[in-house]
Amino acid sequence: MSTPTLAPPGIADTAPDFEEHPAAPASEEDSAPPASEEDSAASAPEADPDSDSETDPESLTASGHTRPGYLRMQVARVLADTPGAEMSVGDVARILGNSGGAIGNALNKLVELEQAVQVGKAPRRWQANAETEKAAGTATIARGTGPATPAPGGTTAPPLPKAAKAAPSRPEPITRPNGQQYHPRALGKHTDVTALRALREAGVPALLYGPPGTGKTSVIEAAFDDLITIAGDGDTTVGDFIGEYTQAEDGTYQFVYGPLVIAMQEGRPLLIDDATLISPKVLAAAYPAMDGRKQIIVKAHKGETITAAPGFYVIAGHNPGVAGAVLTEALSSRFGVQIQVGSDYDLALFLKVEPKAVQIAKNLAERQTKGLAGWAPQLRELKAFQEVYTLLGADIAYANLLGVAPEEDRALVADVIARVLGRKVTALALGKQL
Ligand SMILES: Nc1ncnc2c1ncn2[C@@H]1O[C@H](COP(=O)(O)OP(=O)(O)OP(=O)(O)O)[C@@H](O)[C@H]1O
Ligand SMILES: [Mg+2]
Repeated sequence: MSTPTLAPPGIADTAPDFEEHPAAPASEEDSAPPASEEDSAASAPEADPDSDSETDPESLTASGHTRPGYLRMQVARVLADTPGAEMSVGDVARILGNSGGAIGNALNKLVELEQAVQVGKAPRRWQANAETEKAAGTATIARGTGPATPAPGGTTAPPLPKAAKAAPSRPEPITRPNGQQYHPRALGKHTDVTALRALREAGVPALLYGPPGTGKTSVIEAAFDDLITIAGDGDTTVGDFIGEYTQAEDGTYQFVYGPLVIAMQEGRPLLIDDATLISPKVLAAAYPAMDGRKQIIVKAHKGETITAAPGFYVIAGHNPGVAGAVLTEALSSRFGVQIQVGSDYDLALFLKVEPKAVQIAKNLAERQTKGLAGWAPQLRELKAFQEVYTLLGADIAYANLLGVAPEEDRALVADVIARVLGRKVTALALGKQL
């Protein structure tokens, strides 16, 4: 299976260069059909998705008006090109140069067709979902061109004023339950967070794999605010999933449901973190919940049958490099989507980690991909580096960065640090009595 990778971020990577896609700006009148017109357009034939609004009359009515179906495609294009962004009617109207009424109707229609999601009621905001890109087809937009006058004769548009280059909008950070801010990353044309939410909606289990400290747990927590987590290790038991009899204060024994049962009953997502450290026999207890009927039988509790409520979802984390991690065929085959997660070093810079430390990490990561290094600092180490740097200064921070490297990689790490800093560093150690 080819696996998607969490790309280095920023919407800058995915944001379109709108200058490359000039489209006819429509006049306010042209493209602002009354609400009823846009509504009725739902059943009107759609514009040819291969059409181009500047040159292809398919995007225009005989009188030169933007076809309502095409406007909806353009609105979808705006959302799809800014994945994760929560946009108001005004935001979209400013980009397309159309009237708010028509845009509002188009947004509502997209929601009705499940081709976009409304993420806020007051103020009203909309966001792309997994279907928005499809709904946009090849509709193109000209950003910031504003209303224009149709050419005489009405069917072709006037030459475009050069559109101002759009400043790419970065998706808002999401606050995780621990209070930390998560900055969404790109996953194809989506954000990682919206993609995971769409996978949950569709019931496609996802496995996130990569080295420790790259952001696997963070993205899952950012995506799901109703998450339940099992932290897997070699000692995890079936009881840790399903539940077990526990002695109550009055001395009687009661069956206390485990996280798998609670997630199924309450329709919540279950993160099986470090799933591959769990014994395959134990993991097998969760398989019936993920397969077909989404039911498990709790033998330990009178053979009770638990059926998953809508919203139940299984997602897992896996560190391939960790000793004892075994991704069995049985486990792998249950995860229709497997996403590689690596450190995003641009994000580290964005989070104000010292550029030289990021450079050291990148150098080591490059060597690692060539098989020339066994270790590179990930985002977690870089964040820790920055904390030490702020608290105790540069010397201690770099000495500690060397100190946290595995013993066998120390010489190489020391070499890379020395090259980037222009001076030698030794691992952090206590000095003499003061
Ligand atoms: N996109 C992001 N925005 C902000 N912080 C991030 C992001 N991704 C990761 N981090 C930070 O990086 C650190 C490591 O992330 P996380 O704990 O999710 O890694 P992990 O891959 O789950 O590691 P492990 O395999 O050890 O469980 C955390 O401090 C987290 O807050
Ligand atoms: Mg984790």
